[in-house]
Amino acid sequence: MQIGIAAEITAGETRVAATPETVKKFVGMGYQVLVQSGAGRAASYFDAAYNEAGAEVLSDVAALYDRCELLLKVQAPTAEEAAQMRPGTIVVGMFAPATNPHLEVYAKHALTCVAMELIPRITRAQSSDVLSSQANVAGYKAVLMAAQAYQRMFPMLMTAAGTVKPARIVILGVGVAGLQAIATARRMGAVVEASDMRPAAREQVESLGGKWLDVPMSEEEKAKALGTGGYAWIPSPEYVRDQAEVVDRAVSAADIVITTALIPGRKAPILVRAATVAKMRPGSVIVDMAVAAGGNVEGSVLDQTVVTEQGVTILGVGNIPATVAAETSALYARNLLNFLQPQYDQESSGLKLNREDDMVKPTLIVDHGQVLYKKPN
Ligand code: NAI
Repeated sequence: MQIGIAAEITAGETRVAATPETVKKFVGMGYQVLVQSGAGRAASYFDAAYNEAGAEVLSDVAALYDRCELLLKVQAPTAEEAAQMRPGTIVVGMFAPATNPHLEVYAKHALTCVAMELIPRITRAQSSDVLSSQANVAGYKAVLMAAQAYQRMFPMLMTAAGTVKPARIVILGVGVAGLQAIATARRMGAVVEASDMRPAAREQVESLGGKWLDVPMSEEEKAKALGTGGYAWIPSPEYVRDQAEVVDRAVSAADIVITTALIPGRKAPILVRAATVAKMRPGSVIVDMAVAAGGNVEGSVLDQTVVTEQGVTILGVGNIPATVAAETSALYARNLLNFLQPQYDQESSGLKLNREDDMVKPTLIVDHGQVLYKKPN
């Protein structure tokens, strides 16, 4: 069976879905691997390395689409890309199914689409969890981006010219990205406060040396928070009001704010209002990591840096993982390998998706010419 790795064509996407390391493993398993020339270049993986790993490097992408039966992608294919693929191709990538307008197109071209972000958060699936691998690196990089835009320092320093105060950082949303942001900011010497609507996050924040910003919660809400399998729940108006007060107080006194709050398949919640941003000191920095999902901060703009009238910088980088492409590609490529390895069938020397496997089933958004994915209400 032939696996294809085509160059990503989405603007700003620098990652690649297979690295020489994973190509070598696929070849070792018995696959033939075809790589479009230059597919890994933006992530510092060059054609020669793919060649050495046993791949055939092709400059003609049409020939690649024509030959491969399994295609590994980072971003979902465009309608034009889908039209070039041969019917029956299995495409594995991040499809953003809730907002993807092309699901019917994929079905029309008889593709089978495996959306990696729908892998369930079960123990066995951890090594294939693309949301975690990418969010982890993004949480780290968001802190570096904030540090770069900030005109002061993170750690406290006692110098002959006077004391440098440590930066006060507020992190809203303490999932994978938020936790890594806390750890990174703490390593750099900042004072960190953080909040999340999952009470379980408190212990994690405190274990990393952060201070928990507590939002009062009713018994009913606590039960809801426990029953959502670790994801966000729909808060009551009282919770939203109390949270807004806590956020307003903490953010207006912060030097740096990093927001990461996401709700799978839905628009991100607004957590920081423009009135709160207006209270921040000149020179403060906000990184809205949820900007591509609508944003957590009023006034953030996708892929733009906004400087408010009061001198607050709001960074709205939509694809932070793409700015650390060598690392995020390596992790993403391993996630795909880990997912596909158990689905390899020795007899046919190819992929045989076990559609009843509880790790595979939820990821199949399009199969046998049918859209299987149900968008959340
Ligand atoms: P995410 O990227 O979906 O959201 C980030 C954070 O924002 C979450 O912690 C969420 O609770 C928070 N959030 C959403 N709306 C909010 C609001 N209105 N106010 C305050 N906070 C809000 O989350 P991520 O990083 O994907 O993690 C989700 C959960 O999955 C976590 O509980 C995490 O520990 C768990 N997880 C489990 C794994 C496993 O068991 N294999 C692997 C990775 C994560």
